[in-house]
Amino acid sequence: MATSSPCIVIGDEDQGYDLDLFCVPKHYASDLERVYIPHGLILDRTERLAREIMKDMGGHHVVALCVLKGGYKFFADLLGYMEALNGNSESCSVPMTVEFIRLVSYCDDQSTGEIKVIRGDDLPALTGKHVLIVEDIVDTGKAMKTLLELLKLHNPQIVKVASLLVKRTPRSVGYRPDFVGFEVPDKFVVGYGLDYNEYFRDLKHICVISETGREKYKS
Ligand code: IMP
Repeated sequence: MATSSPCIVIGDEDQGYDLDLFCVPKHYASDLERVYIPHGLILDRTERLAREIMKDMGGHHVVALCVLKGGYKFFADLLGYMEALNGNSESCSVPMTVEFIRLVSYCDDQSTGEIKVIRGDDLPALTGKHVLIVEDIVDTGKAMKTLLELLKLHNPQIVKVASLLVKRTPRSVGYRPDFVGFEVPDKFVVGYGLDYNEYFRDLKHICVISETGREKYKS
């Protein structure tokens, strides 16, 4: 497995927190088991990732490519922190532009194995650029491998990947992003942009879904 900067590792034995200790929308109360990563911790870790990324990539114009839909919250918060660093630096700051792509690979909590690119018409804008791909979660790594191969066709100068989560799974193809927020056990997680059949994106904490939730929202 390729190396990447260190991240927060959530152990297999880590149970997270009782839902009643946090503000969880009532409409999801019975659909979740535990709060796994509270929103505040996500933001604190994202702020630090922004610093690492600027240190590594901040010498040039950065094109940030958001992988939709799951990556939209992480993307917005990460870029907000990167913008703050740009705004507060006396010595240097770099322009950042944004692009979006949509990948679909999941149905219920299972990968279909087939990765569909729904919106890839902006990729020619990446030619010759320093590209930062921003993703919600790398599970098997198949989606990211497919996206990286697709990007290669457009000859970007540099491509780095920031993923909020990486799953520890035996199904991994061995791909590891350059910047990782948290490494999580092999469980299906939702919230903070991550969905189960489009539900739970409107949940600010990252949580483990319950059996009731799986049944209620299955396709
Ligand atoms: P991979 O190709 O197996 O790495 O899957 C990557 C994509 O699958 C992510 O961008 C997510 O959209 C989705 N995914 C994988 N695991 C989860 C999960 O635990 N919760 C929500 N979505 C997931």
